[in-house]
Order: sequence, then structure tokens, then C-alpha cells
Amino acid sequence: MPAAPDLPAAFAPPPQPSPRSDVEIYRMWEIYKAVNARVKAGGEVVNLLVGEPTLPPSPKVVAAASRALSDGRTIGYTEALGMPSLREGIAQLYRRRHGLDIPAARIAVTVGTSSGLLLAFLAAFEAGQTVAVVEPSYPAYRGTLKAVNLVPYRLGTDAATRYQVTPAMIDALPPEVAGVVVASPANPTGTMLTAAELKAIHAACRRRGLWLIVDELYHGVTYDRPADTALAAGDDVIVINGFSKFWGMTGWRIGWLVLPERLVPRIEALHGSLQISAPTLSQIAAIAALETDDEMTARVSAYARNRDALLAALPRFGITRFAPPDGAFYLYADIGDFTDDSVAFCRRMLDETGVVTAPGVDFDTMQGRHYLRFSFCMDEAVVAEAIRRLESWFAAQNRR
Ligand SMILES: Cc1ncc(COP(=O)(O)O)c(C=O)c1O
Repeated sequence: MPAAPDLPAAFAPPPQPSPRSDVEIYRMWEIYKAVNARVKAGGEVVNLLVGEPTLPPSPKVVAAASRALSDGRTIGYTEALGMPSLREGIAQLYRRRHGLDIPAARIAVTVGTSSGLLLAFLAAFEAGQTVAVVEPSYPAYRGTLKAVNLVPYRLGTDAATRYQVTPAMIDALPPEVAGVVVASPANPTGTMLTAAELKAIHAACRRRGLWLIVDELYHGVTYDRPADTALAAGDDVIVINGFSKFWGMTGWRIGWLVLPERLVPRIEALHGSLQISAPTLSQIAAIAALETDDEMTARVSAYARNRDALLAALPRFGITRFAPPDGAFYLYADIGDFTDDSVAFCRRMLDETGVVTAPGVDFDTMQGRHYLRFSFCMDEAVVAEAIRRLESWFAAQNRR
């Protein structure tokens, strides 16, 4: 091979990745890699790590997608805001679940809830603005904000408010904050805000002129009472939701936004530019999914049994500080009596028992090092086996 010619000294340094692309990599992936290595070496894994329902979607969903593929129609783009029949179906869901009349015109179908978040942040905020994010929370809120040149402000919560924000916390936010992101039911805690709390939070945001973004992705996955929607508090809220969790359709990548009217044209234009439309085949499948409420609710009963089994087991493990989840399929537990390094703790738990959970550090940048998230959307036998293994393991752990 000929030697590369020397570059002239006048060349500028090579271009570098942008600072805003320097988002944190989830520490959970480290654990995930250890899981894969263990499986590769022939080891067993009892997986309470991921938040993905393990059952396939309803046969009705699969049939609708197969029909669309086999009847020879073109799977082309859809309107940027989504198929009108899906948007209407989602509007009817709000009528059915909450008795609310949400016009389909205020609904935008997105590429998973994840792209709903991105679009909402782009439409609501200007680069450089600060957005308050409740912690602990889903780590992509912070990553997505950072990627679009927004500054996440940590709104730290603890067990005293069941890891949820209060109007007083919003009143006390510094003046540079332009919006607040909350979730109900939340990941990683599963705790929910009541209709009255949502109304008070909405009012607090209105007093300050803040955008309120509420992630309602886990609606439908609830235990003792149904989830309330922030949309009942007023039209001036951005709600994000999707088909990944209640309907078990993570890989189909369909979510939606419910928007204040003034944001709709902005989201339409942004979505048209960034993604053209959400995947058409998955939109067709999502229309069918809206007809499967009963089937999916039966699955939630299995999650409820897992939740009860974990709630009964944690005190036997010596873990007493946690907020029982109202919804989602996670239990976030304070393991501060055992460790101040949840990543190392998870690694050791995996090595010594084969049970894997998520370290709290991804969800809470300050307190997460002494928390674990147990996911319980898997088969009941998997959760029972994890409990069996962990009981004797925790009994042998030193307390700090
Ligand atoms: C609270 C929350 N919001 C959003 C998402 C992203 O979901 P998706 O993009 O699959 O709809 C997740 C995924 O786990 C989540 O837990």
C-alpha cells in the first residue's frame, strides 16, 4: 500500500462530536452486558431488569398487521400527524377511560413515546432553556433535553411525597425554569398523581407560565385505582403516551401526543421534517390494539400478583423503605442499609444469584446509588424464582 501523504500543516484539527451529543450512557447497559456474558457462558439469568412486557401483543394486533401485509396494499407514509382513524380511536380511548372529549385534531401519532418527547421539547422550548425533571425518573428525559440543547434541572423527590412533585416544589423553582416534566404512573417508582394533585400541579405551572409535560405511558397498567389524566386539569398541558406498555408493543414504535391547539401545527411541521410519519404498519396494528382492552387488562392482573409477591418479600429481604407502586410494573427500593453503590451491588447480585435488577443511578443522578428498581412485567414464575433466590442472599448480606 502506498504510504499516506503527509497532511499539510495548514489542515485544521479533525471535526469532533458535538458537546450536546455527549449524553450519559445508561449504567443499566453495563449490567445488560454482564447478563449477556453470563448467558453466553451457559449461566442462568432471572431477569427483573427490563421494562418490556414479555408476552407478544394480542393476536388481533398481529392479525391486523399480517392482513395489511398480505392484501397487497402499499405500506406508504401517512399524514404527519398520523392516520385519521388511529387519531380518532385514541380520542375515543379518552372518552372511554376518562369521560373526556379530546378532539382528534389535538392528537399527534409519534414514533413511540420517545419521539413524542423529542417533538414536545422542540416545539415548547428554545435552545438553552432550563426544564425541570422530577428525579427519580426515566433517564431519557435528561438525555433528550440535553440532545436538543436544553438544560435539565433536577427536581429531587423522595419517599415523603412518594417520589412525585408537589405544587410547592414548582413554586420554589428558580426563575430560569421554563417547563416541568412529570410522569404518572412513573418509571421507576410506579407512583401516581391523583386528579386533585394533577390539577394543583397544573395550576402551579400556569401561575408561573411554565409548560407542563406529563408522561402517561403507563396508563392502563394500574392496580388499586385507574390512573387520572392531566388532561382533565385543562387543555394547556402536553400529554405523552403510547402503545409500548399496556398493549405490550415496545418494538412497534407507536406513541402519541395530546397537545394544546397552538402546538399542533408546530408538531405537524416538525414531525414531517424529522420523521415524515410514524410507521404505517404499526399504526394499523395500533388501531387493532385499541380493541383489546379486556385482554390487556387480564395481563395487568398477573402484574398485580407479581407486585403483591414483591411487596410481601422486600421486608423479608430487610428492605423497608419503598413506595408501593400504584401502577407501571416497577418497584423502586432504598437499599441504603446494604450499599452506597447500586451498580456494584447489582453486578454482585447477578454474579452470586443470577437475579438481575436495575441500579438506581440511571433514574436519580444524586440518590440513585442506594436504590434498586425491580421490574415485574415478566412471567409470575420468574418473579417467584427471583424472590426465592434473593431471600437467602439478602439474609447473608452485611448491613452498613
Ligand atoms: C416513563 C417512560 N416514558 C417513555 C418511555 C419510552 O417508551 P416508548 O418510546 O417505547 O413509547 C419509557 C420506556 O421505558 C418509559 O418508561
